[in-house]
Amino acid sequence: KTLPTIPQPKTYGPLGNIPLIDTDTPTLSLGELAKEYGPIFRFQKFGGDSSLMITGHELAAEVCDERRFDKNIKGPLEKVRAFTGDGLFTSTTDEPNWRKAHNILMPAFSQQAMKSYHPMMIDIALQLIQKWARLNPDDIINVPEDMTRLTLDTIGLCGFSYRFNSFYRENANPFIQSMVRALDEAMHQGSRLPIQNKLMVSKRRQFEHDTKSMFALVDKIISDRKTLGDQGETDLLARMLNSRDPETGERLDDENIRYQMITFLIAGHETTSGLLSFTLYFLTQFPNVLDKAYEEADRVISGEFPTYQEVTELKYIRMILNESLRLWPTAPAFSLYAKEDTVIGGKYPVAKGEQLVIILPQLHRDKNAWGEDAEEFRPERFSDPDKIPAHAYKPFGNGQRACIGMQFAMHEAALVLGMVLKSFELVDDRNYKLKIKQTLTLKPDHLMIRVRPRDDEK
Ligand code: HEM
Repeated sequence: KTLPTIPQPKTYGPLGNIPLIDTDTPTLSLGELAKEYGPIFRFQKFGGDSSLMITGHELAAEVCDERRFDKNIKGPLEKVRAFTGDGLFTSTTDEPNWRKAHNILMPAFSQQAMKSYHPMMIDIALQLIQKWARLNPDDIINVPEDMTRLTLDTIGLCGFSYRFNSFYRENANPFIQSMVRALDEAMHQGSRLPIQNKLMVSKRRQFEHDTKSMFALVDKIISDRKTLGDQGETDLLARMLNSRDPETGERLDDENIRYQMITFLIAGHETTSGLLSFTLYFLTQFPNVLDKAYEEADRVISGEFPTYQEVTELKYIRMILNESLRLWPTAPAFSLYAKEDTVIGGKYPVAKGEQLVIILPQLHRDKNAWGEDAEEFRPERFSDPDKIPAHAYKPFGNGQRACIGMQFAMHEAALVLGMVLKSFELVDDRNYKLKIKQTLTLKPDHLMIRVRPRDDEK
């Protein structure tokens, strides 16, 4: 019997399907195409190279089978490798440093390890709370900007005992400016013709400059630590410098530690900042949810800031975070390749090496998995973990290549949200209309709110 061909939108000669997407928000455009072409479609890039886009939960479940599919780093991640090398996020599973770093770093991201980061997370969260507490009543808060200050400073402190001190700066830290520019360039490089990339000399120079300046910052942190010696730090850097891989008995070399540090700074702040921003957006839209969240924060957090234990007890706030990640997964896609020739969904042929991309906003809204109210914001759907359709919910990726920082992100986000809700009433008097910005990760662009102290009503 002949296998059906996989649907593909109309192509434009050598440009393939690229003209169909808005290169500033590629994942959203792919989601729009999915509405028309269904749970799987082929998307052709320049020069005939193509990927299969997956948005349905049954196909996603199959593609998440690690015996048949593995993480793919061709495409945008390959460009990001210019500054993250064989760090955890951008290495292939068979590169030796992936397993080595995975083994060495897993304990550093365990729930247990969160206890040692907790006081550092509180330190930074207090800076946010104090900044907001000192605003005048009509001062406007740019939420994504302040959340980025918070998450960057948190990973800087927990990661390397380094203070970016973003709350003391008007503009983004120079490191962040380089990082954001370089990520944006990596995303756009993939949607230009190779010849266009070659001709864009100033973009290329800027990219090289940005890469060098990121290396300079982290290399200095590593060498300072080595010169000064260990001061009893419990941060990620101390763990990276001191631990050996239980399998090989080896440590990570300095170059790889550099790549891991840049990786954590990128992976560890953009996504969590987006998560907190989307969550505050949803809270301003759903007063009932907001009331329940205030109630929980008041009930659980006994002092000025939560203890480690109290953060783990913010159950409803965690459900809100999960629901926010369902509708707006801030890392909106991940990519795999087939290890062998295979067939998926019982009928679609996939050749060995072929690339597949799981588009998360669509997968997370698949009505066949989530029900008819899939588009609605309803944190209660997370109240029973057994009822979550696991293969239709992948905000942290899949299997052994899933996010190593998940507990870190969730602890930090729950802690900050708990503190914000305990202290402030959120006011959306500007009637913000959601606009998505993509820089590889997603954010609610220019989300502005005001806050009022809640003290008077308690
Ligand atoms: C991997 C999402 C926070 C570090 C991933 C992947 C996703 C993801 C989807 C898999 C990517 C792929 O398959 O290509 C998120 C989200 C976050 C978050 C939504 C916050 C809400 C963090 C934090 C850290 C971190 C806080 C570090 C401090 C990493 C690393 C990997 C990864 C190192 C690569 C793991 C490996 O392949 O071994 N993340 N992440 N992430 N994430 Fe996160």
